[in-house]
Amino acid sequence: MVSMRMASIHESTTMKISAMAKKLAAGGQDIIDMGVGEPDFDTPKYIVEAGCNSIRKGETRYAPTVGIPELRRIIADKLVRENSLHVAADDVVVTPGAKMAVFAAIQALLQEGDECLLIGPSWVSYEPCVSFAGASVSWGKVDENFMPVDLAESISARTRLIIVNSPSNPTGSVFDRKTLEEIRDLAVDHNLSVISDEIYEKIIYDHEHISIGSMPGMEERTVTINGFSKSYAMTGWRLGYLAGPKETMKWVTRLLSHSVSQATTFVQRAGVAAMQGPQDEVAMMAAEFRARRDMLVSGLRNLGIPCSMPGGAFYVFPDVSSVGGGDAFTDRLLKEALIAATPGSAFGPDGANYVRLSYATSQSRICQALERIKKILS
Ligand SMILES: Cc1ncc(COP(=O)(O)O)c(C=O)c1O
Repeated sequence: MVSMRMASIHESTTMKISAMAKKLAAGGQDIIDMGVGEPDFDTPKYIVEAGCNSIRKGETRYAPTVGIPELRRIIADKLVRENSLHVAADDVVVTPGAKMAVFAAIQALLQEGDECLLIGPSWVSYEPCVSFAGASVSWGKVDENFMPVDLAESISARTRLIIVNSPSNPTGSVFDRKTLEEIRDLAVDHNLSVISDEIYEKIIYDHEHISIGSMPGMEERTVTINGFSKSYAMTGWRLGYLAGPKETMKWVTRLLSHSVSQATTFVQRAGVAAMQGPQDEVAMMAAEFRARRDMLVSGLRNLGIPCSMPGGAFYVFPDVSSVGGGDAFTDRLLKEALIAATPGSAFGPDGANYVRLSYATSQSRICQALERIKKILS
């Protein structure tokens, strides 16, 4: 027996592929894992030390559901300084991972029968979170560079929420000011809420990161989400946060208080260290990701596979329609080239012609992957 609500949630394709790749690797196969959504770097030492010290000091008890005061204050300062948001510590809620922030915000903002606009191929967890709230997704169209086109056509009388994710998983696209202003205008004209998932904010190349919540008319309708997983290579620590209108934060807090209670106390101490410490490792990781992106995009293009140049995150989203389409090519990649990838169909209907390759793997592995792809195509 399972509830209708649970039955609306499908298995995560990325998790499924990752498990499959791990199983094949454990069986002795030389799998190049390009399915993963996590940095291959270790968490910087000063962050690890802060977490360990906190445990040693005995900070192993419950903390406030909303997060420890010091971390909330530092996050609010960051959002004011770097993102031009008008938030105070009281408007920030710390969560066990940004994923929980996304889940909680969606549950707070949507109800049965509502619609949520997702812009083109979108992160695998948004749709299940929307379904869990009893709402449905309407898919906004994008062009060949994954920029929104004619979004107004995907808005109906039932639309309540737009999710913006720039830089984007899976496409790596970054929305410029003009694009965000168009989304802002739609949100204001139709009185919609916006969730801005900015988890890849620090992994951005030649682009300015702009928080849509900082634009006029957006303060009262935007929930900004971010976390430590990608910027600080802290995926397993589970630390994220959200900030937004007081009423929304109130219900988010209530949901957290009855489910996860709080983000782990000593992990929050590590979060304080991450934000207060030197940021050069963050920049170093972003520089390495950029070198890998350049290598992978030019390698794929040389093989005749069209690939738009991502402005951020650590994924490329090449068009593989000429070599069988996303599902079939992902299958071939795994079976014939021992490369784990994610079919574009996992990210929504407009992703079917694509495959997502993560470049959170070394340059030498990317080089090997390109060689293997060349071999199966020739
Ligand atoms: C777009 C996007 N949002 C949120 C998350 C969740 O991150 P976290 O590890 O903080 O839960 C991910 C992780 O893959 C992501 O890609």
